[in-house]
Amino acid sequence: MDWLPSYQYVCYQLVSIIEGIENLHHILDNEQSMEITPSILTADFCRLGETIDEALNAGINWLHLDVMDGNWVENRTITFGPALIKSIRERVGPDVFIDCHLMITNAEQTWEQYANAGADLVIAHIEAVDDFPKLISELHGSGIQSGCVINPDTPIDGLLPFLPELDLALVMSVVPGKGGQSFIPEVEGKVRSLREAIDSQIENGGRETKLMIDGGIKDHNASVVAGWGIDIAVVGSGLINEKASISENLVSITNSLEI
Ligand code: DX5
Ligand code: ZN
Repeated sequence: MDWLPSYQYVCYQLVSIIEGIENLHHILDNEQSMEITPSILTADFCRLGETIDEALNAGINWLHLDVMDGNWVENRTITFGPALIKSIRERVGPDVFIDCHLMITNAEQTWEQYANAGADLVIAHIEAVDDFPKLISELHGSGIQSGCVINPDTPIDGLLPFLPELDLALVMSVVPGKGGQSFIPEVEGKVRSLREAIDSQIENGGRETKLMIDGGIKDHNASVVAGWGIDIAVVGSGLINEKASISENLVSITNSLEI
């Protein structure tokens, strides 16, 4: 019976197979895990370049740039515009993905300035745009990805007809206007409905629209929104704050996703 493998050999092989399956699970989990993109609103703008470098060194490769024009958001905040976005693009080079979240009254008239500044994706508010399908086709015609964002109180019904054309759908989990606000958990139903609609679109061979959430996400609730099926979470004050470095904050968030 020399040809029979030894007991030890069989055990060794079984352990290897089990470890392989565990690794595979880990790889698949990581592939499906939620991506984090920073909002820079809580940064010191005099040190913005260094802050962005710090984020990239921490492993981030998607930047979320919040544009407010002093007209559209309730608290009349003004943040920044295409000039700053152009400088950021020049600093980070072509490989970092940049989205511009336009909280402005005239996205239909001004989107081209953000495209020219180097945005990969322009996200406009459904509440602020008259002809969204036209905006999508103009963005796509210029080789720019197209995103649609809805406020916490806005139903998803208005967005669903053009979901097949969208590269990204964004659900606000705070009222737009400033960083550091409290998360609104009541958006769960909308997020889950959008997840279902996107999954069935993808199953039917349609566009792989990404699902994003923005506002009040930190290490204590990141895993909650990941469980709702979010692909990308915007994190502002939870990443860029006085308490810790971006890298330390990112580790807290990613660790919270693995528990
Ligand atoms: C809100 C902005 C958000 C926000 C994120 O108007 O669109 O991107 O600043 O910041 P936190 O994570 O601090 O809510
Ligand atoms: Zn935003």
